[in-house]
Amino acid sequence: MKVLITAGPTVEPIDPVRYLTNRSSGKMGYALAAAAAKRGHSVLLISGPTSLGIPEGIDFIPIESAADMYQAVESQIGRHDIAIFAAAVADYTPAQVADQKLKKMGEEMIITLKRTKDILGSARDIMGFKGRLVGFAAETENVENNARGKCLRKKCDLVVANDVSRKDIGFDSSENEVTLVYPDRSEALPQDSKEHLAYHLMEIIEEL
Ligand code: CTP
Repeated sequence: MKVLITAGPTVEPIDPVRYLTNRSSGKMGYALAAAAAKRGHSVLLISGPTSLGIPEGIDFIPIESAADMYQAVESQIGRHDIAIFAAAVADYTPAQVADQKLKKMGEEMIITLKRTKDILGSARDIMGFKGRLVGFAAETENVENNARGKCLRKKCDLVVANDVSRKDIGFDSSENEVTLVYPDRSEALPQDSKEHLAYHLMEIIEEL
């Protein structure tokens, strides 16, 4: 099958030397891309900047901002059977990007932000994607309820939810513990390495 995966953070420029970003190492998305390739799928990874090596045997589109990621996904998703959105996309971006480096002025500084487009939330209704759609949800409370809301709102077949308030898993960690949230049920998986979990997730996603 043809699998599109988004991964990593997006970076939203404020001026030529500063940006806003999300905490994301990209490890989970890259592990999924490697696992999907290993399982014989044709993989396209669309990723924000990370320190990770690109897994072998996959197609790769590097992007910076949420707007770049939206464009890349919009132009590619129609060719794919499965789309997995593991990226930590910025929900807001500076309303204006300064051409020159901003100089210090008063004691406080206000930056106006505007909403970015929800890429996962546009996959069905705006991009017309008909394949299997998988989202991720990083939550600090009410993990399952919040993830189910996302699953239904964004018309996903599955949302992979994790509790990012836990220090021992998620973010920079090489391990993760997730709950699979489907439209009508959920299932907690045991803590595992991101590599092993990614392989298992691909098996589950193939069955959707
Ligand atoms: N996502 C996306 N585009 C965005 C924001 C999020 O594709 N602009 C995707 C992420 O890749 C992930 C899922 O949506 O798969 C996470 O959604 P999140 O931003 O947590 O959901 P929201 O519904 O915006 O909820 P919250 O109120 O928690 O921000």
